[in-house]
Amino acid sequence: MIVVTGATGNVGGPTIEILRSRGLKVRGVSRHPEHPDDVAADLADLDAVKAALAGATAVFSIVPAEPNQLDMEKNVIEAAKVAGPQVVARLSSLGANPEGEDSVSRVHGQAEKLLEESGLPYTHVRGNYFMQMFLTQVDTVVNQGLFATCCVGSAQVGFVDTRDIAEVAAKVLTSTDYVGKTLKLTGPELLTFAECVAKLGTAVGKDLKFYDMNSDDYRNILIGAGVSEYLAGHIIGLYQRVGAGGSAVITDEVAMVTGTPARSFGTFAADYADRFKLKN
Ligand SMILES: NC(=O)c1ccc[n+]([C@@H]2O[C@H](COP(=O)([O-])OP(=O)(O)OC[C@H]3O[C@@H](n4cnc5c(N)ncnc54)[C@H](OP(=O)(O)O)[C@@H]3O)[C@@H](O)[C@H]2O)c1
Repeated sequence: MIVVTGATGNVGGPTIEILRSRGLKVRGVSRHPEHPDDVAADLADLDAVKAALAGATAVFSIVPAEPNQLDMEKNVIEAAKVAGPQVVARLSSLGANPEGEDSVSRVHGQAEKLLEESGLPYTHVRGNYFMQMFLTQVDTVVNQGLFATCCVGSAQVGFVDTRDIAEVAAKVLTSTDYVGKTLKLTGPELLTFAECVAKLGTAVGKDLKFYDMNSDDYRNILIGAGVSEYLAGHIIGLYQRVGAGGSAVITDEVAMVTGTPARSFGTFAADYADRFKLKN
């Protein structure tokens, strides 16, 4: 039984789909399960996490960006110690560093350290900035024809498609070949946000505008849209790291693990174009 937390998210969703399409037994974990084989558990509740991971032969630990992320990470580790899987793959961030300046890199660096120190057979699955994050602004793209960030300027990014992270995870979870390894997953090319927005516009058939704001204005917009102070700070810190060139990385590790080249941003834009089109 392969257990995947964050089962309904950007990475957990496609990972489970791939594993199930190969006939493997999977139990997805989230607070609002969407499949009959999945279970409801809050990662903040250790007993619930232990029950959700019982009998796991492999675990994919995907923990959401919340103020209590490290506590939830610890709960998954404690529950995995009881279950005794052959591998605990953990979704991490490309810039993971326990002493990192921004909270994204710091939390992921500290969580990786906790997992290593647990003695569990781990694999760090570090993703660069997800292409699917463009979906978080579908409404403004559709209604106002614009996409906004802060602090990124003309920095380049090796954006990765979460479907490729899922393909890699499916390999990692069904073998012991990647135990003890750190995988750095990116797309095949370096692009600026402005170039991505132009590609998205081509796919959608619309001239989209790109706004790169200062951090204060962006924070106000996020808070106004109902984003928590913590998550707003988390996102802005990430954009500042991106702006300083911290995500200007490409590797061939998707292809090395899966045998298939990582998807380009053009492929992402074409595949998701309908979501960015005005519904009549
Ligand atoms: N965005 C990026 O570019 C990027 C890059 C590298 C790494 N990451 C990391 O990726 C992780 C997030 O993965 P994702 O984007 O695939 O997830 P996501 O799309 O944000 O979805 C979060 C998932 O976690 C579940 N969840 C949320 N709170 C929960 C709780 N308290 N207990 C149990 N389940 C809970 C959600 O389902 P319910 O709401 O139903 O519980 C959902 O399945 C974060 O650690 C982030 O730092 C992100």
